Amino acid sequence: NEMKPYANEPFTDFSLAENKAAMEAAIAKAKSEFGRAYPLKIGGQMIETEAKITSINPGNVTEVIGLVSRANQELAEQAMQAALNAFETWSKVPASQRAGYLFKAAKLMRERKHEFSALMLLESGKNYAEADVDTAEAIDFLEFYGREMLRLSAINETQPLASIPGEVNRLTYTPLGVGVIIPPWNFPLAICVGMTAAAVVSGNTVLLKPASTTPVIAHQFVALMEEAGLPAGVINYIPGSGAEIGDYLTAHPKTRFVSFTGSKEVGLRINKLAAETAPGQIWIKRVIAEMGGKDGIVVDETADLEAAAAAIVASAFGFQGQKCSAGSRAIIVQEVYDEVAGYVVALAEKLQIGLPELNCAVGPVIDQISYARILDYIDVGREEGALLIGGAKASGNGYYIQPTIFGEVDPKARIMQEEIFGPVLALAKAKDWRDAIAIFNDTEYGLTGSFFSTDEDRIAEALDTIHCGNLYVNRKCTGALVGVHPFGGFNMSGTDSKAGGPDYLLLFTQAKLTSRKV
Ligand code: NAD
Ligand code: ALA
Repeated sequence: NEMKPYANEPFTDFSLAENKAAMEAAIAKAKSEFGRAYPLKIGGQMIETEAKITSINPGNVTEVIGLVSRANQELAEQAMQAALNAFETWSKVPASQRAGYLFKAAKLMRERKHEFSALMLLESGKNYAEADVDTAEAIDFLEFYGREMLRLSAINETQPLASIPGEVNRLTYTPLGVGVIIPPWNFPLAICVGMTAAAVVSGNTVLLKPASTTPVIAHQFVALMEEAGLPAGVINYIPGSGAEIGDYLTAHPKTRFVSFTGSKEVGLRINKLAAETAPGQIWIKRVIAEMGGKDGIVVDETADLEAAAAAIVASAFGFQGQKCSAGSRAIIVQEVYDEVAGYVVALAEKLQIGLPELNCAVGPVIDQISYARILDYIDVGREEGALLIGGAKASGNGYYIQPTIFGEVDPKARIMQEEIFGPVLALAKAKDWRDAIAIFNDTEYGLTGSFFSTDEDRIAEALDTIHCGNLYVNRKCTGALVGVHPFGGFNMSGTDSKAGGPDYLLLFTQAKLTSRKV
């Protein structure tokens, strides 16, 4: 039974009637399950709590997706003990067997692809394509990290160490211990699956605290891992308040690592808390923190301007701009600024706003807090630039905001510097292409960026001088593919890790050298 080489999961073509109908049927099925209760999972036990998180549809806020049990510190402690127990056996399970659970789960998820996408669409406000891409990425992570574990365990036998006579030397990657996994809501399946799968396939056991706006899709992933046969206690599912159980577990003496993806503020807080040593703690905690971005697209006067405009609009408004990779700035050299701005506005005007289940291009933002914050930023934008389009709420029984573009924004303006995480785009005018790159680099973040040009010398220089973790040329700055575009950023965008890359699993292991005299 030869293992197939890794390949990305194909995306679904929803222009085909049968695919569209399959998604509609999956949405109807997901809706028939609305309002169900979802328990915690601790050490293989399902635990119902009285306190619940109510997960709603952000596109139709009176619809309740599910009522999810909510862990407190006592239950988090119970989950820690379950994970510590499970680590004793799980860490000794052969790597190939651990990888096998991921492959099995990938197969099951592929068979039920639209079910996962439909639930995600309703819980997070993604349209068909965005949800489909998210599920495909989740499948990719399972397939990729499974293979990566096999590769790493093979390296254990063949590590290219220098040799000396009379000794056999080996370097092997061993697990760390119990980790706390804290994903965001914006890739509620892919990132949750990727972070969890990488940790457990490396031999660790985890406490998974999903984002409080998307706990149901995370529950369905944990249920899938159970169905794939993963032993009890390897993944413990404990939704709850970040401040309450997040802080408790980050500070816990038995926590060996925290893998976090989310905002800069929370990431820095975790990093600081984790650096303190609790009584009884015998290690330095490892923190893997993937944080925000203020990503952008640079366009010079030699570029294909219409292609650049299409990339700007896709990067700024895909999933309502709620991607860490979202291109919320476009920096355009002055000769072509007006022309590009014109194309961008014309394309953005065509975006239809409405319900995700009707597959509208632009859906709701995630919750009331985001909605209010984005509308505040739009008010800031009015002071800082010329409103070209949008600038207001949009109608619907949910958190709808018009795609909004501000022109002629100063590089130091707040809307050019701060992550808004919504459908708001700032356009800035640069003197020339090098000035445009300097403006791009003038940020505390460094996640994704794009450079549009046809000049080979400029492209070569831009590849060197644009400072971000994922730099694209003549394409949009969103949509990294697992294994193809290892993903993660510089500076305040995180701890420089690369999800979906060849060195990612090393973050969840420690290397042990053994030397035997012969
Ligand atoms: P967030 O920081 O508000 O929340 C992320 C997670 O942290 C959630 O599960 C939340 O419950 C939890 N949390 C909150 N307080 C906590 C605490 N004190 N201790 C422990 N956990 C706590 O972020 P979000 O709104 O879910 O996601 C959006 C952010 O994530 C954006 O800034 C975006 O750029 C970033 N993001 C980054 C990447 C990346 O790969 N770099 C990917 C996706 C999203
Ligand atoms: N990996 C996601 C993207 O590249 C965040 O858009």
